Amino acid sequence: MDACAHEVRPSHVDHASLRQAFGCFATGVTVITTLGDWDAPVGITINSFSSVSLDPPLILWSLSLRAPSSGAFQRHDGFAVNVMSDDAKHVVERFARPSPDKFRDLAWTSGFMGVPLLNDVVATFECRTESRIPKGDHEIYIGRVERFSSTERRPLVFHRGSFRTLGEAL
Ligand SMILES: Cc1cc2nc3c(=O)[nH]c(=O)nc-3n(C[C@H](O)[C@H](O)[C@H](O)COP(=O)(O)O)c2cc1C
Repeated sequence: MDACAHEVRPSHVDHASLRQAFGCFATGVTVITTLGDWDAPVGITINSFSSVSLDPPLILWSLSLRAPSSGAFQRHDGFAVNVMSDDAKHVVERFARPSPDKFRDLAWTSGFMGVPLLNDVVATFECRTESRIPKGDHEIYIGRVERFSSTERRPLVFHRGSFRTLGEAL
């Protein structure tokens, strides 16, 4: 397959090409949840999640400053990272669009600091917000892991704009 090279000039960034190049990096898919006004559950589909440190236990993710739900994450000091399984594509798609009703008919329980935990996930990291670092058009969230759990379920994968299941181990 042909490579496509781009030089980034301060005056002009080709956003479509840059997004396409970022999308070459295959990731898992998470729904990150918190509590909003009047303790309403809030959640966003996020693939910028990454582990940072074992000691202390830290993770990061980045949130668009333009996301309608961003205010909830700025006001509440706890969040949960729900790592989604490959049978949860419909849930992930629901949380990837603005809606006042994302939790309709969805089972969830209350975790650390009351934050919503989704069912049927691969892993969960319940975090206290340690820092919010504005960078460009996003804010980087650093979370300290207060509780976590994991299962043997298969994860949902995101690559080049499509959801996939994990292939065989090499
Ligand atoms: C696979 C996938 C990964 C995403 N990752 C991020 C991300 O890391 N950061 C982000 O701000 N938005 C990300 N989004 C977009 C948000 O899910 C989308 O803007 C959503 O509408 C935000 O929720 P809100 O509208 O309730 O604020 C992603 C979307 C998809 C489909």
